[in-house]
Amino acid sequence: MKNLTTFMCAILLTACHTHKQVEEQDPFIQENISFAQEQLGNAIKTIEASGKILNPVTLKPDGSVFYCDMTDWRSGFFPGSVWYLYELTGDSALLPLADKYTEAIKGAKDLNWHHDVGFIIECSFGNGLRLTKNEKYKDVIVDAARSLSTRFRPVPGIIQSWNVDKGWQSERGWECPVIIDNMMNLELLFNATRLTGDSSFYKIAVSHADRTLAEQFRPDGSCYHVVDYDLKTGKVRNRHTAQGYSHESAWSRGQAWAIYGFALCYRETGEKKYLDQAGKTFQFMKNHPVMPEDLVPYWDMDAPDIPDALRDVSSASCIASALYMMSTLDTVNASSYRNYADRILVSLSSPDYRAKLGENGNFILMHSVGSIPHQAEVDVPLNYADYYFLEALKRKRDLEETVKN
Ligand code: GLY
Repeated sequence: MKNLTTFMCAILLTACHTHKQVEEQDPFIQENISFAQEQLGNAIKTIEASGKILNPVTLKPDGSVFYCDMTDWRSGFFPGSVWYLYELTGDSALLPLADKYTEAIKGAKDLNWHHDVGFIIECSFGNGLRLTKNEKYKDVIVDAARSLSTRFRPVPGIIQSWNVDKGWQSERGWECPVIIDNMMNLELLFNATRLTGDSSFYKIAVSHADRTLAEQFRPDGSCYHVVDYDLKTGKVRNRHTAQGYSHESAWSRGQAWAIYGFALCYRETGEKKYLDQAGKTFQFMKNHPVMPEDLVPYWDMDAPDIPDALRDVSSASCIASALYMMSTLDTVNASSYRNYADRILVSLSSPDYRAKLGENGNFILMHSVGSIPHQAEVDVPLNYADYYFLEALKRKRDLEETVKN
């Protein structure tokens, strides 16, 4: 009964809020929300018609939609997008769907053989808790943080990203690989400490962020993709790439994860060194001589075939969302961060990158890159590009409302 009441209050509050927003909203934001509502609405219709709970990720080479299971690192993004769509539209019909798609991946909370439980659970259950305050989501978040904590390796002081006992990761000679993407998983740990008062999650997150800050960056502000540690001595064994062009190249999504991840660490801890790193990596991307005019990066800023190299829309949408967050944390650079993020969103909303209604497997954005070295998901829609695009729209809307009020 308490849960039901909380859900009903959430619906009513969102509905009132939304009525006001629709009247006053920036037409650019409103148009993007309307498009997302229709496009993702079509994806939802397909899922509901199937009688199953499907979790769309990307398009397969034959043009059909690839649906993942809950162990896939991308399984939280579609449920998370439905939460953002609910928040952006206030459409109460989306609430039980967001809840259903979220509950369907609940088992991911026990995953301890990779680090991605943070992405999975924060995007889905984290948004569910934020928007409904429903207690049932809380336990899942805390259990997931416990799973992630089992991967903490005290000697190097980091969370191990990948296991090295099977698959292609076992062929690289690594002992304890940490990828920059792991910074995104720390949000789960900060959240778990806030929810429980147990500081052990927070301490692991800070240890991981500090060691990553010390080891994973180059003097120019760009980051390596993979740093491999010696489990006995804690020393760095290798600085490599897995998804970038070369060990010394700047893989764009890695830069995006670094910007976003260190910005969120500053938001959670108030430690200025994290914000400085986020800013430095952003400046590296912004000032990069090959950054295209439309601010949608090449998949790797050192790709040998620039200017013909593929772009990666997922990097652009993640950077846009991170910059809106950073604009609330850094008053000195706030307007330049917002302007840059606005320019990215204008590009992503253009026909160059935003799909036509009913096309693109009902994903919002086209032209992302999963992994060129693995020849996987090359120039396709990806559900995380859509997720960070919706998050960026929501953050932009929040910022504009703050100015009005
Ligand atoms: N976290 C995996 C990727 O960015 O492709």
